[in-house]
Amino acid sequence: MDWTAHEEEAGSAIAAAATAEALDDARVRYLGRKSEVAQALRGVRDRETGMLLNGIRSRLEDAVAEREAELADAELDRRLRTEIVDVTLPGEELPLGHLHPITQTRRRIEDAFLGLGYEIRDDREVETVHYNFDQLAFDAWHPARSPRATFFFDDSHVLRTETSPSQIHAMEERPPPIYMVSIGRCYRRDDIDATHYPIFHQFEGLAIDRDITLADLKGTLLHVMRALFGPERRVRFRTHYFPFTEPSMEPDVSCGVCDGAGCRTCRYSGWLEMGGSGMVDPRVLENVGLDPNEWSGFAFGCGIERVAQLRHNFPDIRALWDGDLRVLRQF
Ligand code: DAH
Repeated sequence: MDWTAHEEEAGSAIAAAATAEALDDARVRYLGRKSEVAQALRGVRDRETGMLLNGIRSRLEDAVAEREAELADAELDRRLRTEIVDVTLPGEELPLGHLHPITQTRRRIEDAFLGLGYEIRDDREVETVHYNFDQLAFDAWHPARSPRATFFFDDSHVLRTETSPSQIHAMEERPPPIYMVSIGRCYRRDDIDATHYPIFHQFEGLAIDRDITLADLKGTLLHVMRALFGPERRVRFRTHYFPFTEPSMEPDVSCGVCDGAGCRTCRYSGWLEMGGSGMVDPRVLENVGLDPNEWSGFAFGCGIERVAQLRHNFPDIRALWDGDLRVLRQF
């Protein structure tokens, strides 16, 4: 056997192995149990041949280990090149939603009142006639009691027409002082147009304490209107009638488009109507068992769609209900 030629042949086979599998084949072929070297080693009788064969075996083993490392390096290089991830690339853009303008407005209102120490509440939308009308001192003849104005389930249940029943719930739940704002949906049988929709939202405020005056009401509304519309706004009252307040007033806020000079938005009056308000009627206090000589209070109610409309200046509140993203994305 020409061991020098054999070692050369094995060396080139090992060096030429292009893959881990090819290298393993070469290792089995030249160093395995049935390889020439292994078989010859088993039959060795003299020291010299033993040293020769062991030398060959150990050099070939080194060659295999070396080739193995080379192949592993090459494989790593290949993977680094092909499996590269550029973590600095901008990610895939996921469409992020945003809050509906009604929700945004609602949260502004909540913030303004939380800042004044008011409690925020949310009551039921299906009300009894007792809470929606009777306790609020609506007279029997009041047009809101008509099924033409209000959605009735039966004689004694309605979809609430305003958030005012929350006043009664709040006063029945615990004794004064009470400072609360109730926010939520209301329902009326209105025809749909640019400023009316049969479903709408209101916020309703109630303050019950000792020695509450009309000045407290006006100061509170001024603060809230400025929080919603900006620090330059002014507030005025026009006398009005509501069953559950006496005296009753409609608050106006100065027009933000013309600053009171008169323009199309305010129909050339300089003022925008903001809902209803007044001093809580003694009859309402008595209805919930409070002594009108001890306790007094003010209340107000206002549409959230109207606030949103005036804040963002869009012409038609139907946009708030259509769910057209092309419109809603603008706010
Ligand atoms: N509930 C009335 C409405 O929907 C608004 C209102 C008026 C609320 C006077 C009040 C109030 O709290 O005191 O038209």
